[in-house]
Amino acid sequence: MDIKKLVEEMTLEEKAGLCSGADFWHTKTVDRLNVPASMVSDGPHGLRKQDEKSDHLGVNDSIKAVCFPTACATASSFDRELLTSLGEALGDECQAENVSVILGPAVNIKRSPLCGRNFEYFSEDPYLAAEMAGSHIKGVQSKEVGTSLKHFLANNQEHRRMTSDSVIDERTLREIYLAAFEGAVKTGKPWTVMCSYNKINGTYGSENRRYLTDILRDEWGFDGYVMSDWGAVNDRVAGVIAGLDLEMPSSGGVNDARLMEAVRDGRLKEEVLDQAVTRILTIVDRYLKNRKPDTVWDKNAHHELARKMEGECAVLLKNQGILPLSDSDEVAFIGYFAAHPRYQGGGSSHINSTRVESAAEAAKDKGVIYAQGYEIDADQMNNTLLEEAVAVAKKVKAAVIFAGLPDSFESEGYDRTHMAMPECQNALIEAVAAAQPNTVVVLHNGSPIEMPWIDKVKGVLEAYLGGQAVGGAVVDILYGHVNPSGKLAETFPIKLEDNPSYLYYGGEKDRAEYREGVFVGYRYYDKKKMDVLFPFGHGLSYTTFEYSNIKADKSAMKDDETVTVSLDVTNTGKVKGKEVVQIYVEAPDSQVIRPVRELREFAKVELEPGETKTVAFTLGKRAFSYYHVELKDWFVQTGAYLIHAASSSRDLRQMISVYVESTGKEPVVYHLNSTIGDILSDPDAAEIITPLIDRYKKGNALGNSDGDAAKSAITQQMDDAMFRYMPLRQILSFAPDVSSLKELQELVDRINDKK
Ligand code: BGC
Repeated sequence: MDIKKLVEEMTLEEKAGLCSGADFWHTKTVDRLNVPASMVSDGPHGLRKQDEKSDHLGVNDSIKAVCFPTACATASSFDRELLTSLGEALGDECQAENVSVILGPAVNIKRSPLCGRNFEYFSEDPYLAAEMAGSHIKGVQSKEVGTSLKHFLANNQEHRRMTSDSVIDERTLREIYLAAFEGAVKTGKPWTVMCSYNKINGTYGSENRRYLTDILRDEWGFDGYVMSDWGAVNDRVAGVIAGLDLEMPSSGGVNDARLMEAVRDGRLKEEVLDQAVTRILTIVDRYLKNRKPDTVWDKNAHHELARKMEGECAVLLKNQGILPLSDSDEVAFIGYFAAHPRYQGGGSSHINSTRVESAAEAAKDKGVIYAQGYEIDADQMNNTLLEEAVAVAKKVKAAVIFAGLPDSFESEGYDRTHMAMPECQNALIEAVAAAQPNTVVVLHNGSPIEMPWIDKVKGVLEAYLGGQAVGGAVVDILYGHVNPSGKLAETFPIKLEDNPSYLYYGGEKDRAEYREGVFVGYRYYDKKKMDVLFPFGHGLSYTTFEYSNIKADKSAMKDDETVTVSLDVTNTGKVKGKEVVQIYVEAPDSQVIRPVRELREFAKVELEPGETKTVAFTLGKRAFSYYHVELKDWFVQTGAYLIHAASSSRDLRQMISVYVESTGKEPVVYHLNSTIGDILSDPDAAEIITPLIDRYKKGNALGNSDGDAAKSAITQQMDDAMFRYMPLRQILSFAPDVSSLKELQELVDRINDKK
């Protein structure tokens, strides 16, 4: 397509029309100029292509496709390549089905375990979320199919998601909520981005110029088109001006007319509309030019891929010598989910799966006994099922209970109100564990749950919503054919009330204040030194790993340089396994309020028994910085930083210190109300005011700890503090003879001139 020429030839009506969908899933055609339609469809963990009746809630059927593990599971793989292979598989399915853009991945931060859509999101940590999303995007787009990174921005709750206003301070936005998108945009380069329904600090995501243009395009270099979430447009004209190119699904022509009117009466410059049309056509053209209509994909191969992936994702939370089971053990699989796994969530990501593999089916040849244990839609215990389960558990060597959250507990569209599993499932676990000491729980859930029975069972495997092959993957792990290597991408708090957003989550009516600031997930639990059920980054293996020999290629650096840290990891156990090495950076002497330490890098390494590998990580400025709001930039405070190599956020194994010198300058302006302590701690400023301070100290008790008055330690400490926190102008109140307002102002001016 000669897009420039096309745009010149298009009428205003055609241009306005192209900026919204033709129907639920297609962009419009311009037949006169041979501009074809292109189709977008939901993802992110499978293709939800609807040929007939359309909807954005997963209500009507879509074509058959493979349901891969959902993002809550894939994030736990901490494996970039795995996400890329997921993306490649999705890209092939899209090419085969002629879908130009698959909607996702979704990189919203898990602010609270209650968010109904957490299963579609990656993590509480923005770096991990960004890396996973970036790798997913690269995979899909390597097949010349676009992605739509969503939901931009600050869509962290389902409650009133279409009208709520996420009220967030700038530093928190930059360090947590924007950071996940920033990393994904920069590494993945998505063809499109989807704006969220909600407002961000008072302005709808669909018309928020600051995020859609100033930050997304101008700062991060995004060059695709932005589409709205389905029905997220409030003021279409404001949206186009802000940088929202495509409205989805369609406004039935109403907004096309509004755009035309706005161009005609001068509220909307035609060049701005042209730009939106150009961006949309560029992506349509990119897809068409690289079309691979002959792509075939094999549903069995994709099913096997889904099984292999889930084997890398499931997290072994607890294992007191019970796992792996042996093929010859007599085992009972108890619980409805053993025969009917919950493997995906409800809503727009709901896949019409090619098949579903349950654990009971996958373990058929092992002579496993099955008991249903509980009713899936009931909260109350069915005693007949309970008694049957207990009787079965007593007969075998080990009982594996398949439990978790029913569909009605978590879904797009609404949030949970508590973190508990259904009462009948908790009761079943208690009863079986009382009858059978070798009890393991396998969990199917999209977000953390409370585990009141944790001390009574010997093992817990978190399978999450692990895709259509979850049953096979779980059996692979239970019997040791696959060594678990997943690590939690989120903290499991002991109880809901421990979560940092607990007091404010959901907000009041449409106002959702993110008052916990940057203290999301482990950033909060670590700062508060709180016990958690399972920490971020935790996950066990059937082998053990030792970390040694940490080194850095320099001990001091400027913040515009990088440091490479390496360490050795050894498999000290008897079976092959994979370890996720996590790098956390700590700023022990920070003068700003910061989390104790933050994840800045990670790598997954595979090791044979006895094998050692050296892993290396390169850290640059961003690993040491925080967002400086006045500077409007990332800033590194000069000082020593600790770099930890860890097996989880609470299992720090090796540490090395690096001194980082800032090349940035904090904007400081002194005035008469600057404290004497602040001025004296700045060497340039101290030089200028020291003569005045010496004069003042001579005749005044305050600030003169060597004065005549005999002082107790307390009065001396008080005296020092009072002096340090005294504003400069107060010298005139306590010692009017020592200086004058004029002299103080001159000194302040001299200091500021020197800065
Ligand atoms: C969801 C999006 C989805 C879209 C289309 C919306 O309700 O928030 O994630 O892509 O529907 O189904």
